[in-house]
This record gives sequence, C-alpha cells and structure tokens, in this order.
Amino acid sequence: MYKDLANKYGTPLYVYDFNHIEKQFIKLKEAFKARKSLVCYAVKANSNLSVLKHLKDLGAGCDCVSIGEVKRALHVGVARYKIIFSGVGKRDDEIREALKEDILMINLESEEEMGRVELIAKELGIKARISIRVNPNIDAKTHPYISTGLHDNKFGVDVDNAKRMYIKAKNSENLIPVGIHFHIGSQITELEPFREAAKVVSDLVRNLQSLKIDIKFFDVGGGVGIDYEGEETINLYDYSQAIFENLTGLDVTLTCEPGRFLVGNSGVFLTKVLYEKNNGKKRFVIVDGAMNDLGRPSLYGAYHDIEVIGSEGNESKTDVVGPVCESTDFFAKDRVLPLTKHDDLLVIKSAGAYCFTMSSNYNTRARVAEVALIDGKDKLIRERDNFEDMIKNEAKCI
Ligand code: LLP
Repeated sequence: MYKDLANKYGTPLYVYDFNHIEKQFIKLKEAFKARKSLVCYAVKANSNLSVLKHLKDLGAGCDCVSIGEVKRALHVGVARYKIIFSGVGKRDDEIREALKEDILMINLESEEEMGRVELIAKELGIKARISIRVNPNIDAKTHPYISTGLHDNKFGVDVDNAKRMYIKAKNSENLIPVGIHFHIGSQITELEPFREAAKVVSDLVRNLQSLKIDIKFFDVGGGVGIDYEGEETINLYDYSQAIFENLTGLDVTLTCEPGRFLVGNSGVFLTKVLYEKNNGKKRFVIVDGAMNDLGRPSLYGAYHDIEVIGSEGNESKTDVVGPVCESTDFFAKDRVLPLTKHDDLLVIKSAGAYCFTMSSNYNTRARVAEVALIDGKDKLIRERDNFEDMIKNEAKCI
C-alpha cells in the first residue's frame, strides 16, 4: 500500500491514518467519561486543516499557541467555546484578535501578560475569560528539551504567584478567572508526575474556592507519551484516575490538551532511497527526505522506527541520512537494515506529531505533500509545495 501511495503522490510524503486518530480520541473520552471533559487537541502537533476538521467532527476543541493556530481552528469550524489560547509570549495583536473572537479562555503565563490582557479587554469594553498556567515544579522525567514543569523552564508561574494573580483577576473589571492550567512536558511515560502536578494544582483550586474564586476548567495539559520503540506507555484509565483522585468534591470540567497521543502514531513518513554509500568504515543509506522535512532525530536524538520496503536480508548497521548539508541530517544512527537499492521505499514510523509542523524550506527544499487514509482510502490533504511557492514572497520584492 505504501508503495502505491509513494508512486501516486511521490516522495517524500506524509501519510496519516484518520481511523487511528479516531480510535485514540475515543480512548481518551472513554477514560474521562466519569466526569465532564473537554479535549482540546494541541494544534501544534499536526495542524493540517483536514486533521483539525477530523478531530472537530469527533467533538474535539483546540489548544492553540498562536493566533495563526486559533485561525486554523476557526477556519475548520471548531466552536469558539472550545478554543484555548496558550503560550508564553503572546503579542498584543494576537491577544486582541483572540478576545474579539470570544474564544473559551486565554491561558496566562505571567503577571505582566495578565496586565496586557486586562488593558486590551478594557479597550474593547469586554471581560476576558482567563486561566493561569501553574508551574508546579515537577520533573516530568522526559527529554530536557520537552520538559516544561520545572522552575528552570520559562513556562507558567509558581503557585504563590498564581494565587496572587487570581485574586487580582477576580477584582478586575475586565478579567474573569474561569480556568487553571498545567502542562509539565511532552512524551511522558510515567504516571507519578501527572498525579503530583494534579495534586499541587487541585490544592490551589480548593484554596481559591475559599476565596470565592470559582474555577470551572481544570486543564491538565498534554504530555501523554506514545510508543516509539516499544517503550511502556501510560495506561489511560490509570491516568484519568490519577487526576480524578485529586478532584473529589470539585465541580470542574476536566480539560486536556493532547497532541502526540492523538496523532503521533497515526502517521508515517515515506522516503525513497537515492544511494547507498560505504566508505569502508561506515555505511550510509541516503534518502530523498531530510531533517527539514522531519527534524525530530536531529533535534532531540529521537528514535523513529524504520521499515524498508523492497529489500530484505543482507542486514548491517547503517546511518540513514538525507541530502541536507548538515551532519545532523539523519533519521537513524547505526540502525540494522537490509542492503537497499535505488528507489527502495523507507517507512519512517510515528511521524504524525511534530514532524510536518516542524518542517522548513531549509536548503530550498519544498515542503512535502500530506495524505490521509480514511477507511483504507487515500485522500490528498496537502499539495506538495513547488519552487514558485518557495520564492513568491521574495520574487515580488526583487
Ligand atoms: N499543551 C501545551 C501547553 C503544550 O506546550 C504542548 C506541547 C501540548 C499541550 C501538547 O503536548 P503533547 O500531548 O503533544 O505531548 N516538538 C517536541 C514536542 C514539543 C511539545 C510542545 N508542547 C517533539 O517533537 O517531541
């Protein structure tokens, strides 16, 4: 099947299984079914409009980190009351637009930011619904580049600061505190950090209640890890229980912002072998995809499983590398793979999250096409960029 898709659409190519996304979404809703819940998909993981529409049709809202992402969500018809705007550095124009769009809430990450939101809400003559991101200082035990819940990280505010901000917000004419938020990191495979974070943040909710500050949305962020190389992942029922046990007696809507969990293992990246190269000491498989298309291995040393279609046997260790002029342009190091030949197809797995969305035009390489598989049928959901697409904003300025 992958071979047919590669022939039909060309390579490099992303392919996403929409049925897998649906399965993951249902698993999550099931795990949370004992309470009111709102799943706001983290758009940054994969922001293709068709992916967003698919999740919207299933009932998901969106967690956005730029006004661009908010606009994507609105573009595919996600209800305003299901859109959250998060992020550590929002510009005034982004805040203004989000407030005008009347989305569910803006997640605040600093006192200064709260001041800007208050000012802009005042200018607009409205009350802004806000939530505060609490940094609970908990080690999520994940890759340091994707850990966010420690005081070393730029994200959120500590509990004492958050409390002060909530009191200020309650007394403001132009702010309404409606939510509380934490997000301690990504690709988390242990349960305890979630339990601990939920404890710290729910204690604060109770404290706020005694001050007559009524929190309606308890947002546990994203972060649930997926299986990239056979690692143990979190059982979703246990995950929901670890959160619920901290919410006893609280009338809140459980809100979450999963990205990778919903889309990560829905996707593969298809790339063709250009050449084999062996300098006597080391073997390289050179493919037509590169770090600009899928950057996780070069950025985080991330592991992505690779299957070779077309060749078998004759296995040896090899690096799988792309054509970009950087030594970090690799998909795998010292991976045992069969000897390949020109045009063999490599399937790079777990490529549904943070792969296309982090791609670039580096080396003037065109962003690739994306295809959805829906009930076994393929559908183009993004055309491949061409040279004109890449130069259009420069060519007119020459
Ligand atoms: N909510 C917030 C506030 C976030 O910052 C993130 C991800 C999520 C939700 C979704 O997290 P997830 O459920 O996908 O773990 N590029 C990195 C991952 C960066 C994650 C950034 N924040 C990677 O490729 O591993």
